[in-house]
Amino acid sequence: MQGWILKKEGYDANSAAADGNRFLCANGYMGLRGVCEEAGKEQFAAVTLAGVYDRYMDRWREPVNAPHGLFVQLYFNGMKMGPGNRETLRHEIRLDYRDGVFGRDTDFGPVRLQSERFVSMADCHLMADRLHMRILRDGLLEIRTGISADLWDINGLHLFDPQCRTGETILCGAVTGEKGISVKTTQCVRPEFRAEEAFEEENEGVFRILRRKVNRGEELVLSVFAAVSTSLDGAAWEICAEECCRRAKKKGFDACLREHREVWDRIRRRSEIVLEGDEEAAFALRASQYHLNCIAPRHAGNMSIPARGLSGQTYKGAIFWDAEIFFFPMFVHTQPEIARSLLEYRIETLPGAMRKAAEYGFRGAFYAWESQEGGEEGCTNFNVVDVFTHRPVRTYFRDKQIHISGDVAYALRSYYEITGDRSLLENGGAAVILECARFYISRANTHADSENVDYADVIGPDEYHERVTNNAFTNRMAVHCMESALELKKIFRDRPEWFDALLQERGYEKDWAALERLIPRIRGPVRQNGIIEQFDGYFQLEDCTLETVRSRLMDPREYWGGDHGVAGTTRIIKQADVIAMMALFPDDFTDDEVERNWAYYEPRTEHGSSLSSCMYALTACRTGNPDRAWDLFLRTAEIDVTGGGKQWAGEIYIGGTHPASNGGAWMIAALGFAGLRMKNGEPELHPNLPRQISKLTFPITAKGKNLTVEVSREGAVIRDRQT
Ligand code: BGC
Repeated sequence: MQGWILKKEGYDANSAAADGNRFLCANGYMGLRGVCEEAGKEQFAAVTLAGVYDRYMDRWREPVNAPHGLFVQLYFNGMKMGPGNRETLRHEIRLDYRDGVFGRDTDFGPVRLQSERFVSMADCHLMADRLHMRILRDGLLEIRTGISADLWDINGLHLFDPQCRTGETILCGAVTGEKGISVKTTQCVRPEFRAEEAFEEENEGVFRILRRKVNRGEELVLSVFAAVSTSLDGAAWEICAEECCRRAKKKGFDACLREHREVWDRIRRRSEIVLEGDEEAAFALRASQYHLNCIAPRHAGNMSIPARGLSGQTYKGAIFWDAEIFFFPMFVHTQPEIARSLLEYRIETLPGAMRKAAEYGFRGAFYAWESQEGGEEGCTNFNVVDVFTHRPVRTYFRDKQIHISGDVAYALRSYYEITGDRSLLENGGAAVILECARFYISRANTHADSENVDYADVIGPDEYHERVTNNAFTNRMAVHCMESALELKKIFRDRPEWFDALLQERGYEKDWAALERLIPRIRGPVRQNGIIEQFDGYFQLEDCTLETVRSRLMDPREYWGGDHGVAGTTRIIKQADVIAMMALFPDDFTDDEVERNWAYYEPRTEHGSSLSSCMYALTACRTGNPDRAWDLFLRTAEIDVTGGGKQWAGEIYIGGTHPASNGGAWMIAALGFAGLRMKNGEPELHPNLPRQISKLTFPITAKGKNLTVEVSREGAVIRDRQT
């Protein structure tokens, strides 16, 4: 595991789900799980589409998988070849983080198959595979290749009424059950050998059979091109996949790969952090940057990134606060057009957020906790299944995690501050901030006998304590959001008529006055001996260790939160909460305060979410303790190298890649170790290198300028960069 290549030797059916995530290939439009060509649903094969959702029966909505066009199954003398076969002598898979090329090398006994494939960054509809088959025995080789519908669907079926066609370009089109979205996969091949050709159409897809008598020592090469398009892709969608396939076949595999690599190279260079001093950490950082870059939407301007990226259907393919708080920082500092896309998605889904607020009896915008297309709320009332009773557990994430609207506003304001680009605010962003602020006005709990204003019945980032009052993080986000609404007036001070017209258009006169009155009355953090109470009454809960809580579990998959969860009555928390607030609002707290709260909360944190460690690592750097951050950094950066992270919430599978950790790793390295901060619109460095790192070099863009940051023991500089 050196340099840029992740490798796995041998085949192990038990790790197929995790390997599918670790070896993912994706291009923002679709994600092809890291499985071999012959894999089906048993091996968790899937081609997950970004932004296409469907509901099957009364199950929860999830992203749709396209039929898989790079399917290839070999038969030798009628015997099916697979890496799990008894005869298989050697099997290895690889993923190159430089360009997202997935490779395999399997010695089946009679045939050795080596292949390389990619999901194209140059043409978002295309994926391609080139197979080299070295024949080791005389016999009859049959290559069954085509478009397979045997895919891993968690809540499937999603595609109905399949229409298949055979010929030079084979095709399989179908329609989603709920909204009638058409999904089409096409495939064509370029064999560099002669073979008898036949076609098969069946329930599992449409296939081409290439049959040939082979002799020992022969080498056969086959290129396979597949393309996907959907009726959401615009006017030309119907011919798009076929044309893409035909074009690719004409160009050939090498030319397509070259184009793909050129684009990857540019992407990589725009965000790559070169870490010197610790090869294992450098490798993990490359992995996390690969994983975040490969799922970023580059084909459309108003899309965001789901919590498990494009690695499958877990977490309903939905957009969480992960996007604004964890993915956004890397993009806004390195590829602002992607940061912009994430926020344009929120601007476009404002009507959905306003509908959700109204549904709960509030005004303004209450963003979906798990947002799908159009801002539709994907989060259900029951997100966990109890392992003992097998009954769904009522969770309140959807109803009570109100910090989400503040998180969206936080990113919108940061976008403006970091890029200096006001156009996003002008084109809907200011309206989003105003509507989110209006939500916090209407959601506030005032009292007849007191000036204090509370946010009661909420859930903070720590989901194990539901329905609490005055969660410090939530209150701070709400205040920041309302202050950002007021700040807009200053941002647009040179366009007062435009801004007044916006307020008028949104019927905001009374709300403006309400903001000014409300902000100073909202309960700020309550401290006891310098420790901020996470929410009202938290200090009254049982104070026990993580080990004690863990020892009370009767089943390792048991859910720790909810009504009967083991953590709920204790001070043990799922993930950074007070500390996340300190990381996001560094100027509110002194180093001493951060240090004391860190020492208090870290041992009480399960880090049961992949969003947790990076917040602790960032705050440890801030207080000059980068060595404390080191293990948390490794844990964050390595998660998709090792296939770590929680796999289950009760009985529900929640595995996949971890874009929030991937973004978190960038944050720790750039904002923590290098100490990058924006001060009055200019980047500054406050380095905190841990002893393991001798030097960090990385590109950033700030206010439209391309810069290089270099931090080493000798010093820290920000230089202009030629692109
Ligand atoms: C975390 C949330 C997060 C979600 C998606 C949950 O386990 O508690 O904070 O948004 O996963 O990553």
